[in-house]
Formats: sequence, structure tokens, C-alpha cells
Amino acid sequence: MPLNEIVEGDCVEIMAGFPAESVDLVFADPPFNIGVHYENSDDSREHDEYVAWSETWIEAAVRLLKKNGSLYVAIGDEYAAEIRMIAREKNLFLRNWIIWHYTFGQHQRRKFSRSHTHIFYWVVNEREFTFNTDDIRVPSDRQLVYADKRAHPKGKVPDDVWAFSRVCGTFKERVGKHPCQMPESLLERIILASSNQGDVVLDPFCGTGTTAAVAQKLGRNYIGIDVSPNYCELARKRVHEVAARGDR
Ligand SMILES: C[S@@+](CC[C@H](N)C(=O)[O-])C[C@H]1O[C@@H](n2cnc3c(N)ncnc32)[C@H](O)[C@@H]1O
Repeated sequence: MPLNEIVEGDCVEIMAGFPAESVDLVFADPPFNIGVHYENSDDSREHDEYVAWSETWIEAAVRLLKKNGSLYVAIGDEYAAEIRMIAREKNLFLRNWIIWHYTFGQHQRRKFSRSHTHIFYWVVNEREFTFNTDDIRVPSDRQLVYADKRAHPKGKVPDDVWAFSRVCGTFKERVGKHPCQMPESLLERIILASSNQGDVVLDPFCGTGTTAAVAQKLGRNYIGIDVSPNYCELARKRVHEVAARGDR
């Protein structure tokens, strides 16, 4: 296993070379098949072809998950239903169908502007999985608004609608010119909740390396895969900078 590396290539082929049950957490943010321009991959396939391909990479990722592992997949409205059905066929247990509500969505003139992405959270084993409740608590209304003595002093477990801003072109967090970089705050919640220090976190579509950078910061081992040599270079530079800053 190429631990703490960004691997260039097709994720289905690369994952096939890894040992089964070797990964604690997979986070996947695949191309949504909505015509985004990535450097060297197709984001406008025929419907059936995209669904068949999704099944292939999900199967490859599930094979790598340990028995207490977790899988998170980000997906748009267009294919959320299909992805949910694929995971059901793979016998994964749905823990949450999270809605990531973001600001800075694309403005529309003749329909409501979209401001959300679906994030599915599945586990392999219904009873045994990592969920670090105390590491992801957020301030509650009971604490902040009502000064209710019954409030948990460390806050509440977040709801399943998450509000994080998208990473816009002008943001300091932005890395290179990738068209859809995920916010680190979102990955931080997922990695803190569903992995422990020293665990292995895999992102088969790592793009700018957000998952790898956050995993590195939080003391997890990462593996990132992307088919684009340039995005891989961006991701490598990013995680090395995190390491050099001494975040970890
Ligand atoms: C939605 S982006 C991921 C962005 C990433 N979450 C980030 O924060 O930067 C999808 C990525 O999948 C990559 N990709 C497309 N097809 C692939 C394949 N077959 N194997 C590996 N990566 C692929 C693209 O190059 C693109 O960077």
C-alpha cells in the first residue's frame, strides 16, 4: 500500500492492486457527470455508462474497506438516486444522507439556484464502526440561545444538513485552478468522525488533495488517487506544505 502518497492513474485500476480490507475510511468526490472540464477525464458520459462506471469504482472501494470501515460519497442531484441504489446492492448500511448546503452557488435565472450537494455516509458493519462523537461537537442552541443547563457543555453532534462555504476562486484556501475543490472544514468533520489517529484514509478522486491534506493534519495516513498528473502534482505540493508547516 502506498501510504501517504498521491498516486497518479485510474482509481479502479489502482485500487484493484491494493489488499482487501486495508482502509478505514474512503471519501469519494467523483466527477458528477455534469460536463465539468477536468484535465483528462470525461464528465459527460451516457447515463447508463456513468452508472455502470460508478458501480465499478464503488465496488473497488468497498473491497478495500475494513470490516468496521466507512464510505462517504459526494454526489449531485443528477445521480444521487442511482448511487444510493448501487450502495444498497453492495450491502452497505446507510447512516446518513447528508445535505451539504453551501453559499456561493451558481446563480440561475429561470429556476432556483442550487446550493447543495448530497453526501452519503455508509458503514460496512451496522454495529461496529468508528464514530467519534466528542471530536465533532458544535455549539448548540440550547447553549447559545436558551442558556439551558441541560445542554451538553461541549455542544451537540452536528445535524445532517451541513453549512460550509464552497471554496471560491479568491479564497486563500484555493489551490491552483481545479474546478471543484472541497472545503477543508467539511473533510475535517468526516475524518474526525469516522477515523482515528494512525488510520488509513483513501480518496480515489483526490483532485487538489483536500482529503489527504486534512488527513495529514489530523494524524491519519492518506492515499490519494487522481487520473490527472497536474492535479496529482498540486495535491503532493499541498500535503508537503502541510507537513512542512508542522501541522503534522
Ligand atoms: C470532483 S473532483 C475532486 C475534487 C477534490 N475533492 C478536491 O477537493 O480537490 C473529481 C476528480 O476526479 C478525477 N478523476 C476523474 N476520473 C478519474 C478516474 N477514473 N480515476 C481517478 N481520478 C479520476 C478528476 O481528475 C478530478 O480531479
